Amino acid sequence: MSARFPVARPRRLRGSSALRRMVAGTRLHPAELILPAFVKERLAEPQPVASMPGVMQHTRDSLRKAAHEAAQAGVGGLMLFGIPAVKDARGSAADDPDGILQVALRDVTAEVGDSVVVMADTCLDEFTDHGHCGILTPSGDVDNDATLERYASIAVAQAAAGSQMVAPSGMMDGQVGAIRAALDGAGYGDVPILAYTAKYASAFFGPFRDAAECAPQFGDRSTHQQDPAGPLEEALRELRLDLAEGADAVMVKPAMAYLDVIARFRDEADVPVAAYQVSGEYAMIEAASANGWLDRDRTITESLVAIKRAGADLILTYWATEVARRLNRGV
Ligand code: PBG
Repeated sequence: MSARFPVARPRRLRGSSALRRMVAGTRLHPAELILPAFVKERLAEPQPVASMPGVMQHTRDSLRKAAHEAAQAGVGGLMLFGIPAVKDARGSAADDPDGILQVALRDVTAEVGDSVVVMADTCLDEFTDHGHCGILTPSGDVDNDATLERYASIAVAQAAAGSQMVAPSGMMDGQVGAIRAALDGAGYGDVPILAYTAKYASAFFGPFRDAAECAPQFGDRSTHQQDPAGPLEEALRELRLDLAEGADAVMVKPAMAYLDVIARFRDEADVPVAAYQVSGEYAMIEAASANGWLDRDRTITESLVAIKRAGADLILTYWATEVARRLNRGV
C-alpha cells in the first residue's frame, strides 16, 4: 500500500523544472518523427495549401530542399505523396516509372541517401480522376480485389524507384498480403511495409484532400475505411490480419481522436506502432494559434507528447522538421 496524504504529496516531484524534466516519462526524439510531403507534377512554384498554413505542394526542387532540411534536423522518415498532372480511372500514373511519385522518390533518395527513411504512400486516390482509392465497379463502389492488383504494381514501382518502405493506405482487405507477395516476387523482399491498419473514415482528413487534390468526386470512403463509431475489436481484427499478412509496422490514423486505439495496438502488436497526426489535427492547431487562441508551440508539443504517451513509436506529423529542430535545441 502506498502512502497517503499528508505523507504522500505528488506536488513534491513538480517543484522545479529540473525535477519535472528528470521524471518526465515521455520524451520526443527527432528520429521517431516522419514528415509527410506533397509533390505535384509540372508545378512551377511551390504552392501553399490554404487549409494547412505552412504546408506546401512542392515542386521537384522544393521537395528536395524540404527533404534535405528534414534530414539535417534528424527527422526519421519522409512519407511522399504525388499529385500527377493527368489522372484517369485506373490511376495509371501511380505505377508509371516516370510518374511524379517515382520521379520524386529518385530525386529525394539521391538528395538524402539513406540518412532518412524515404517512404511512399501506396494508394490510388491522388491518381484517379474520380478521387477514389481504387478501381470502381460499374455501380461506383471500390472493387477490392481488382484494386489489390493495382496496389501490388504500385508498390513494386515505388520500390524500384528507391522507396525504402511502402505504406498502403487504401484499407482494401488483403492489401498487405498482396503487396508483400508482389514485392517478394519482384526481388524487393527487403522492403518493409508500414500498413495503415486502423484508418478511420474521418472528417479530420479534410485539408489533406486539398493538399493532395484527391477529394472523391462522389460518395465517400466509408465502405472501406473504418467507422469512427465502430468497436475497438474491429481495429484489433484489422491488426491481426495485417500482422498475419506480413506488416512490418502498423499505423493508426488519425491520432488524437484515436489514442485508445494506439494504446491497444501498443499492447497487442509485436511490431512498431505508428500514428498519423493528420491534416485536420494540424489545421485546428494552426488556425486557433493564428487567432491567438492557443499557444502554438506548447500545443504542438503537447499534442505529440499525448500521441507518444498513448503508445506510438513513430509519429507522422507535418511539423516534423520544425519539432525536430526544436528538440535539437533542447527546447
Ligand atoms: C490516402 C490518404 C489520405 C490521407 C493519407 N493517405 C486521405 C484519405 O484517406 O482520404 C490523409 C492524411 C491527412 O489527412 O493528413 N491516400
